[in-house]
Formats: sequence, C-alpha cells, structure tokens
Amino acid sequence: MLEVKDLKVSYGAVQALDGISLTVNDGEIVSLIGANGAGKTTALRTITGLEKASAGSIVFDGQDLRKTDPSRIISLKLAHVPEGRHIFPEMTVEENLEMGAYADPAGMAGTMQNVYTRFPRLKERRRQLAGTLSGGEQQMLAVGRALMAKPKMILMDEPSMGLSPLLVQEIFDIIGEVNRQGITILLVEQNARMALSISDRAYVLETGRITIQGKAGDLLNDERVKRAYLGQ
Ligand SMILES: Nc1ncnc2c1ncn2[C@@H]1O[C@H](COP(=O)(O)OP(=O)(O)OP(=O)(O)O)[C@@H](O)[C@H]1O
Ligand SMILES: [Mg+2]
Repeated sequence: MLEVKDLKVSYGAVQALDGISLTVNDGEIVSLIGANGAGKTTALRTITGLEKASAGSIVFDGQDLRKTDPSRIISLKLAHVPEGRHIFPEMTVEENLEMGAYADPAGMAGTMQNVYTRFPRLKERRRQLAGTLSGGEQQMLAVGRALMAKPKMILMDEPSMGLSPLLVQEIFDIIGEVNRQGITILLVEQNARMALSISDRAYVLETGRITIQGKAGDLLNDERVKRAYLGQ
C-alpha cells in the first residue's frame, strides 16, 4: 500500500534521512522506532508532503506522492496524526471532528457516530473547546479526527506521548481495534515495547538510516533492539 524507496531529506546541513526504504502492506501495522532525533517525524512529514525530499520515491496506493499536492493527499485516503496532536484548540470537539471530514463530507454523521462509539469521552465533551481537553482526550480527538476522513491508512506520530500508563494501554488498544477494522497503520513510537507488541513488522531508524528491520516478534527478541530500545 505504501512503498518508500531511498528517501533523502535534509534541513540545511542536517541530513535527517539518508536514503530510507520501507514498505507497508495492506492491512498491516508497521512501526518505525528510534531515539530522539533519529528522523521518525521527518519520515512521516515527508510522506504526507509537509517536508520536501531531495531524492527517492514515495508511492501510496499506486500514486506518486512526491508529485501530489499535499492538500490532495487526504483525498487519497491517507491520514496523518501529527506529533503533538495539533487539534484546533478554539474549536469544539465536534467542530474538530467535522474538520477531519472536509475532503469527503458524505456520510459524515454516520462516521461521527462511529467515532463517538469508539470514544465515548469525546461524545460527552462534544461541545467543549478542544483546547480544554486533557492530554489523553486531545490524543483521542486527534485519532478521531483522522478516522473522520475514512482513511485506508493512518500515519501516527507518537500517539502515546505524554500519556499515563493506563491511557497508553488504551490508545494502543484503540490502534489495534482500528487496524482490525481494516485500516493500515504506520506507527512512529518511542515506546518500542508497546509498538512492537501490536505491530506485524517494524523498522529501527538510527540517525537517518534504517539499521534493523523484521517481524515485530523477532525484533522483540533481538539483542540489539533489547539493549537499545527495550531497556533489557
Ligand atoms: N525544521 C527543521 N529544521 C532543522 N532541523 C530539523 C528540522 N526538523 C527536524 N530537524 C532535525 O532533523 C533530525 C530528525 O528530526 P525528527 O524530528 O525527524 O526526529 P524524531 O525521530 O521524530 O525525534 P523525536 O523522537 O524527538 O520526535 C533532528 O536532528 C532534528 O534536529
Ligand atoms: Mg518526532
């Protein structure tokens, strides 16, 4: 569904991605793990056109994303839950959800009901300003807003960041459930153990290069991964 080949991105003199290749097949959860500054966010932002690549290719569902205007990417059914949530704080929960459906508003009421069924907390707070939600609630809203686009695939950037252990578990449960309903997921996480436990496959990114890749279960038992990312 997504194929990235030899992708290079630099910010001035900083080579943030130095030729990464990865694939995500239809129906999979694939995680991209790595330390601070490894280039994870850059990878997701480049896939959705928010950063410009200097080389390489990005093909999603047969479309060349490097030639696609970033504003059209959501119409291709590729959604992005960015790092740090980026909800609209001065809008209500419901207005934020409506924004998620802007590219394809048909059937919005039904989609919203599905989101409210999955996140009852958002339904309770639908008239509340999003900026007054707790961190965990804002994260749920960011995921809910992505679902409003009826995506085939979601790119998620550190959905567990800043959440309490109980909420971390809840957000990973939700990711698993969204995937079981047919949505392909590329997950960026520093919480490597949780990410690997729900993923089919994973890639380890170290300073702009993929250094380890494989089945998530194999990576959980890989000595290098254990030492560097699982604290064992
Ligand atoms: N807009 C920018 N201008 C200059 N350098 C940047 C910019 N954005 C990122 N970088 C640099 O590129 C590298 C990769 O950053 P990136 O945000 O992709 O890392 P990350 O893996 O997402 O890290 P984290 O886990 O901390 O979120 C870092 O060295 C960072 O300082
Ligand atoms: Mg990041």
